[in-house]
Amino acid sequence: MKTHPRHFASDNYAGICPEAMSALVEANHGHAQAYGEDEWTARAADLIREVFETRCEVFFVFNGTAANCLSLSAMCQPYHSILCHEYAHIETDECGGPEFFSNGTKILLLKGDNGKVFPEGIEKAARKRTDIHFPKPRVVNITQATEAGTVYSPAEIGEISEATRALGLRLHMDGARFANAVASLGVSPKEITWQAGVDVLSFGGTKNGAAAGEAVVFFNLDLAHEFEYRVKQGGQLASKMRFLAAPWVGMLKDGAWLRHAAHANRMAELLEQSIRDLSGARLMFPRQANAVFVQLPQAAIDALRLRGWRFYTFIGEGGCRFMTAWDTTEQDVHDFAGDIRELIAAT
Ligand SMILES: Cc1ncc(COP(=O)(O)O)c(C=O)c1O
Repeated sequence: MKTHPRHFASDNYAGICPEAMSALVEANHGHAQAYGEDEWTARAADLIREVFETRCEVFFVFNGTAANCLSLSAMCQPYHSILCHEYAHIETDECGGPEFFSNGTKILLLKGDNGKVFPEGIEKAARKRTDIHFPKPRVVNITQATEAGTVYSPAEIGEISEATRALGLRLHMDGARFANAVASLGVSPKEITWQAGVDVLSFGGTKNGAAAGEAVVFFNLDLAHEFEYRVKQGGQLASKMRFLAAPWVGMLKDGAWLRHAAHANRMAELLEQSIRDLSGARLMFPRQANAVFVQLPQAAIDALRLRGWRFYTFIGEGGCRFMTAWDTTEQDVHDFAGDIRELIAAT
């Protein structure tokens, strides 16, 4: 079987970006205080405050599942419920972690086109039952960019936030691909977070170019109370924290995080343009970030896999998810699209 240097399965297939790697190497000198008491961690948290242009509490954890589970558990009691889209990562890909870490908080699913939740859906779900026998809605979770590869506009987040506040709920954003959303919208990070009413953000570093590590960012400072204990109890307090923090410094200090995200988005756009007019290929969602979702004939899917390409077909509604990363090249897109074209023609 042919081997390819890069694939279209996930942005977490990609390696460490040069900026994160050189910061890691730089951090690897001498001894530093453990458990986040070091200078790299302080600097990374300060850079995140600069990016968001506000006071916020920042905690570094190993992965996105932990960022979501721990932050949601800080926003709920066990008798509460979390409203999210039916494709949400917290529902489909975290193995019941949010329920586990919050000691039983129930997840209630909303439908919505293009992987998005809408104010009407939130209102309907939150008002459906208000009696003592039903888990009380407490948090709305949205994903930015969404699991369908789409992006919430600032206005959409504002409307969701308004509905959320009016119902007395809190707003959580899963930003595993937050950088791709910012690059796609061309807005400042504050416009789609705290200014739009987001209380807590799981800010993704891994898919953007780090080896590992996500930041939990509390814009609602009250919710951060004793969060460090949750992080420790959840097994997410890195003793050598400087190595989780340093890549953030490398990626944030001169804007590499947004350059990489913009590049990944451009590669997805190029892929979309290369295949969208093929008869036999049907785009499933508008491409707004670094994923292209497309329905292909099963024979073409099988043949692509036989040619050594890796990609997922189980996300959201199914179909193929082709995802680009900071290191995807135009040549990769050209080769992959060429194979798709050839194999569709052969079916
Ligand atoms: C939307 C979303 N949230 C969170 C995550 C984080 O998951 P992990 O625990 O694999 O870092 C992912 C990873 O695929 C994701 O796609």
